[in-house]
Amino acid sequence: MLEIKKQIAAALSAASNGAVEACDIAAALEYPPNPEMGDIAFPCFKLSRVLRKAPPAIAQELAAAFSCEAVEKVDVAGGYLNLFLSKDYLAKYVIEKAVFADKPYGSSNEGEGKTVVLDYSSPNVAKPFHIGHLGTTVIGHSLKKLHEFVGYHCIGINHLGDWGTQFGKLITAFRLWGDREKIERDEIDELVALYVKFHAEAEKDDSLNDKARAEFKKLEDGDEENLALWKWFIEISLREYQKTYKQLGITFDSYNGEAFYTDKMMPEVEKIRAAGLLKIDDGASIVDLEEYGMPPCLILKRDGSTLYPTRDIAAAVYRKNTYNFDKCIYVTSAGQSLHFAQWFKVMELMGYDFAKDLVHVPYGTVSIDGAKLATRTGNVVLLKDLFATAIEKSLGIIEEKNPNLENKEDVAQAVGVGAIVFHYLSGGRIKDINFIMEDALSFDGNTGPYAQYTYARTCSIMNRAGAPKAASAKITTAEEGELVKELLRFPEKVKSAIADYEPSTVTRYVLDLCAAFNRFYHECQILNCEDEEVKATRICLVNATKNILGNALSLICVGTPEKI
Ligand code: ARG
Repeated sequence: MLEIKKQIAAALSAASNGAVEACDIAAALEYPPNPEMGDIAFPCFKLSRVLRKAPPAIAQELAAAFSCEAVEKVDVAGGYLNLFLSKDYLAKYVIEKAVFADKPYGSSNEGEGKTVVLDYSSPNVAKPFHIGHLGTTVIGHSLKKLHEFVGYHCIGINHLGDWGTQFGKLITAFRLWGDREKIERDEIDELVALYVKFHAEAEKDDSLNDKARAEFKKLEDGDEENLALWKWFIEISLREYQKTYKQLGITFDSYNGEAFYTDKMMPEVEKIRAAGLLKIDDGASIVDLEEYGMPPCLILKRDGSTLYPTRDIAAAVYRKNTYNFDKCIYVTSAGQSLHFAQWFKVMELMGYDFAKDLVHVPYGTVSIDGAKLATRTGNVVLLKDLFATAIEKSLGIIEEKNPNLENKEDVAQAVGVGAIVFHYLSGGRIKDINFIMEDALSFDGNTGPYAQYTYARTCSIMNRAGAPKAASAKITTAEEGELVKELLRFPEKVKSAIADYEPSTVTRYVLDLCAAFNRFYHECQILNCEDEEVKATRICLVNATKNILGNALSLICVGTPEKI
């Protein structure tokens, strides 16, 4: 609709003999509350000062002089101009853009020449990769795809939590109870089991914690044996994460985790000191942020070792130098909001101009329906177990509904994983969600499977219809008109999803589009339609829906099998 609005604004500006700028008009155009009032309205009140006339008189004059291909009828209602758009014109327009153009409808080159770094997923190695990480992983990747869609150059970084005292614990546990072969076989499950065992045993015997600290110190000092174990633990964890990322269709451009910044922190600490920001508090080095209403940001512990914020500061500087980003986005749970606010402030106080380009995108917590999904690690739900359950249930549904489907396993994976992602991205990101598996997997509700099923329906129609024919569009029913309007909304939704860092805008759009398409599908004959021109238009509308729906689903990391 953005383009159409621009055309209308230009025509209105011309009708006013250039007395009003098109851009001012475009910003003032409204969507009327009900269809009797047209598709777009222009309030003339603000013009009365410039033109020194009453609004209704302005509306009359504009209506008389106005001419625009997209508009079929103009009504004057008091100080309003109500515009009725030509459905044929709109259909022709959207069909050209979404079926016959060489770029996907809604994509653009708005971000051309600009770089966005996205830091997301970033699990802590050797700790369980659990459902709490679903948010950062899918919101982050969706934001990456959205930015790419409008032309930004994007770098996805998995800022692995690959350094810290948990490695001292794991090394200790491995030395005491570990079995190399068992780890090679059971991979991360065995690592997590060792980690859990360590905690249970340390409850009874505190000296284990001293041992763990000593092992981590050895690792920091470069002890070869410990370094080799550390590398091995990371390798094993990454192998596991890759399986989950593969199911989600996610790849990263960099896996530089926290350890990568080990030698890059001290220069930054020195800069903080040189700027006169560093204070000693009870032996630790901090930056006082009281003036900004925040607790102090911890830079060095009493023993001189670095902390989470220190690594983030070093990482931001490294990324600026390496990628020269225009924006660096961090996706984490809202629990880390203070951490980001603090070190963003420190960067600003250090004089780093680009501190204003650092963006934290927080999201709410997830709870889940179930003891059913509990794992041997106790109360956390592992992402891979959640996916496995969803895939298994999807396979069950497919076996029942469509037993002869080819590639059943692949489709079940796309549907199962897609259901979870879709459900997760349905609400605003900051809201806490309670995850109910049955709801997510239902084919009838407003779910991922329902959207995928609608997509598969468009594919099946197109397979039977053959190539769409470029023709003038002929719209004859309200359902077609509503579908056209919904299709036209896609670019605006993409824009607003990016502006608000909110993939759920796309998810909700997908549901609106599916609803409009399915009403059209149930009301209108497509392949059996007798009027050739109407039939050609309908086939093109199906094709436009297929393309837009497919792109929208892929922007929210949901797979698009052609048959279900
Ligand atoms: N590893 C952290 C966690 O699991 C998230 C890291 C987020 N990124 C960052 N640059 N701090 O909580």
